Amino acid sequence: MSTSTERTAPSQSTSDLPDRRETELVKQRYDRIAPVYDAMAWFAERFRFSKWRPELWQSVEGKTILEVGVGTGKNFAYYPNNLNITALDISPKMLQQAARRAGELNVDVELVEGDAQALPFEDDSFESAVTSFVFCSVPDPVQGLRELCRVLQPGGQLLMLEHVLSEKPVIHTLMKWFDFVPYRVWGAHINRQTVENVRIAGFEPVEDTDLSLDIIKRIEARA
Ligand SMILES: C[S@@+](CC[C@H](N)C(=O)[O-])C[C@H]1O[C@@H](n2cnc3c(N)ncnc32)[C@H](O)[C@@H]1O
Repeated sequence: MSTSTERTAPSQSTSDLPDRRETELVKQRYDRIAPVYDAMAWFAERFRFSKWRPELWQSVEGKTILEVGVGTGKNFAYYPNNLNITALDISPKMLQQAARRAGELNVDVELVEGDAQALPFEDDSFESAVTSFVFCSVPDPVQGLRELCRVLQPGGQLLMLEHVLSEKPVIHTLMKWFDFVPYRVWGAHINRQTVENVRIAGFEPVEDTDLSLDIIKRIEARA
């Protein structure tokens, strides 16, 4: 039978990380909403996100995989069998929900508490990395993406499902104006330019596909 384990990354404290005050706020917000996160996300999950997750995970290459921002473990149902998957999150309360779901689904995953901006892994540790709806919340997204580039092997694969700032003028303006609303509630921004950030962080090539308008994207890149 598969088991899940939880460990705290050694010497991982948000006190010596980039944007530490904002990072601590994001952590506290996700800790606060963890018990109700699945209920809050039910509609989007049922009618939008769940249809994109299977294809993402079917595209994963290699055996050693890192999921960053695992949340409550919404991707567990789509993990391919027989991979060595490590799943990290900054929120201990989200990780508690993930551990419960891993047990229910009998998923074999190592859960790690840590910050995407200072990943507690050696260089070149993973063949692929996966994120879904995470880089809206990471305070310094380019730093987080640089860390992903570092822990991936050269040529390693980055797969993402992320919402980004629309380029359509009216929607673009509205998303910028109302960015403070989701940020205040749970620490997520709707004005992130994640495709550009992936390039800035050093990934090449970077390909993106629109899934819903030009807001929700599938991104694939190489370290
Ligand atoms: C919107 S949830 C998405 C969860 C999951 N990936 C999904 O698809 O449902 C964002 C997750 O990213 C985590 N997160 C935010 N900032 C982070 C950081 N700096 N390092 C690691 N995880 C972070 C949050 O704690 C939260 O669990």
